[in-house]
Amino acid sequence: MQWRDTYSLGIREIDEQHRALIGNFTTIEEAIRQGENWSTVYFHVADLKESARFHFTCEEALMRLFGYPDIRLHTAEHAHFFKVLSEIELHSINRSIEKERVKFLRVWMTKHIAGSDRELARHILAGAPVVKA
Ligand SMILES: [Fe+2]
Ligand SMILES: [Fe+2]
Repeated sequence: MQWRDTYSLGIREIDEQHRALIGNFTTIEEAIRQGENWSTVYFHVADLKESARFHFTCEEALMRLFGYPDIRLHTAEHAHFFKVLSEIELHSINRSIEKERVKFLRVWMTKHIAGSDRELARHILAGAPVVKA
């Protein structure tokens, strides 16, 4: 999976986090393709989990800050990604990477960034006010 300019949402911090996530994910795909041993894959997955957790926390904070109306759905999508990633982590210990789960993550990233994240960026860039006390 490669970064494409069409993934850019126009908010530098989010774009940089997305670039890093895609980079992390590509490392996992490469490790699997090259038949690296399970521990290599496991540690790459742990890296992706850490960066995904940080990224999702940032986006969810932005949603609360800017009163994003679709916060529940968007947060549920994040939770689903994280669940599948955790399953891959578990399976990598059992040395049985399931290609379907990896493919799910690739499709998820493309669709989520181009869809749900783009909607969130639009909301913020359109000048949504900060939710006040
Ligand atoms: Fe998101
Ligand atoms: Fe995102």
